[in-house]
Amino acid sequence: MTATKYPRIVTGTHGPEEGAGAGTPWPDDVPPDQDDTWYPLRDDPWRARRMEYLIAGLWGITAVCGVALMVVYWTGGQTQIEGGLLVGATGALGTGLVLWARFLLPGHDVTASRGHHVSSSQERAAVVESLSRGTDAMMSRRGFLVKKVLVPVGGIFGIAALWPLASLGPRPGRYLYHTKWYPGARLVTEDNRAVHVSDVMVDGLLTVFPEGYIGDAASPAVLLNIGGAAVQEPYGEQGFEVESGANGLVCFSKICTHAGCAVSLFNVLSMQLICPCHQSTFDVLQGCKPVFGPAPRPLPQLPLGVRADGYLYAKHDFYQPIGPGFWNRGGDNQYFPKVSS
Ligand code: FES
Repeated sequence: MTATKYPRIVTGTHGPEEGAGAGTPWPDDVPPDQDDTWYPLRDDPWRARRMEYLIAGLWGITAVCGVALMVVYWTGGQTQIEGGLLVGATGALGTGLVLWARFLLPGHDVTASRGHHVSSSQERAAVVESLSRGTDAMMSRRGFLVKKVLVPVGGIFGIAALWPLASLGPRPGRYLYHTKWYPGARLVTEDNRAVHVSDVMVDGLLTVFPEGYIGDAASPAVLLNIGGAAVQEPYGEQGFEVESGANGLVCFSKICTHAGCAVSLFNVLSMQLICPCHQSTFDVLQGCKPVFGPAPRPLPQLPLGVRADGYLYAKHDFYQPIGPGFWNRGGDNQYFPKVSS
């Protein structure tokens, strides 16, 4: 295979390294009569026309793949088929563009020395004019390809490419600010057993949910019995603990504020909850303030109450958003004002 079939114009007496020299008009070594309207198939209209049809066929494949992509997606989607169609669509589109640039657009390589030259206004105007000649050649001489094929195909494929935006689902709205805990919700275990104030032994841990919402991803909480240990409840969270005889019960969101793993390890010696994912450590006696690891803020605490029959309930939803999220980057927000004591 030969290196190139097209004229490569290498001009000038200076090598690129040598430069034209400061103040030397440029391009002093590019022939003024060079033909910048030349393109490889210019002198063979029949082959040029065939090339147009070939490119149009390729872009037709793009359109067909785009429509098929929408249909497959709409009817439930199949990842491998969608991937194949995407490859087909973009491959055909790119191949057509390459063929167009290679055989039907004017241009050839021009090598000229540059040096420290700064272009004059006439030279800049000449470049603009040369570029617009190329644009004319692209837009007007190839009207069939541009207007009848590329524009509609681009539209179809553009819509097909936007189709997967539907997968983003509904807007979250205020959902991110709330869990399923509600005032009066009884604490229940994963097997739907209401939690009595005496159910958790001192130093024990129990995973609980709001009654009626077992398994809700945002609502799991850990109920801890810290015995008679003194708790420093943060401002705004006083009274969230329940004391009953020798039991001191506190309840925190189980969703780690770093990346959302389940906080499930309780070190009773240090009274710390530990997230197994990246070892964020929360001091239970200080309102689950993070004392080690990447978690940026405390685990939100659930305000507890005890009914007359001894069963535990939530007085309210968490007063802080649970888990990791955009609120980490701001201070308090309007949806979660601090609770007054
Ligand atoms: S998710 Fe808990 S420390 Fe990273």
